[in-house]
Amino acid sequence: MSGSPISKNDGHAPLRLGVNIDHIATIRNARGGVHPDPVRAALLVASAGADGITAHLREDRRHIRDDDMYRLKQEIDLPLNFEMAATAEMLKLVTQVKPKACCLVPENRNERTTEGGLDVHGQHNFLVPFVRELIDVGARVSLFVDPDKKQIEAAKSTGASVIEIHTGAYYEACLATTPARIEKEYDLIREAARFAHEVGLEVHAGHGLTFHNVQPIAAIPQLQELNIGHFLVGEAVFMGLAEAVREMKNLMADSRTGGHY
Ligand code: PXP
Repeated sequence: MSGSPISKNDGHAPLRLGVNIDHIATIRNARGGVHPDPVRAALLVASAGADGITAHLREDRRHIRDDDMYRLKQEIDLPLNFEMAATAEMLKLVTQVKPKACCLVPENRNERTTEGGLDVHGQHNFLVPFVRELIDVGARVSLFVDPDKKQIEAAKSTGASVIEIHTGAYYEACLATTPARIEKEYDLIREAARFAHEVGLEVHAGHGLTFHNVQPIAAIPQLQELNIGHFLVGEAVFMGLAEAVREMKNLMADSRTGGHY
């Protein structure tokens, strides 16, 4: 990957791991019962060193349900990041659950997962008052955006204090193992993180991160948080959830001290 080597954190804040527990609920819902319980998973990942819990309450409730959000808020000590579409229904729930943070994402019923970033530029006038309402409830607001300067500038002007950079295209490039494509997607993320930090935003990243592709991302010094879900829940089948979280945190920490890129 191009650019100067990053050998350490350069004075930036340490990198946190937010664990997305949606797919614990996906497995639970496959049988319609109560097992496995996402709150129990959250407690376990907290004890394994996670720094936050993320849960996406989708409009169709395909994994996380309303009662999970209330229980997560009540039963875990870690900050809760409520991932959501910008709808009146979700806003009302946020006023009741009172999470530490909200991450606004685009939602499409036909998608398997959040396939792209939010079009903050196109929806700017709608998002400004929505972000204001979330801030007034006391939430730290993050907007999930593609690594695109136009979207980042728009995000800044909504009043949100955080962006989360969508790393899905980088994940796809890593799957295809085409070095030029990986480098191109990586450079977009790195440049986006630098730009967002420069304009005063806190910068997070997530989507499709795994043991194999996380380290170059974790080495980007402006990043303060990674949100990771599907891979950790999948890997839990083989090594256990707590061990998967510990290994991810070790890889992240190592990339900040080991001079990976
Ligand atoms: N961050 C956001 C905003 C997301 O929508 C998702 C996926 O739900 C993630 C992070 C985690 O992605 P993954 O499950 O691929 O690790």
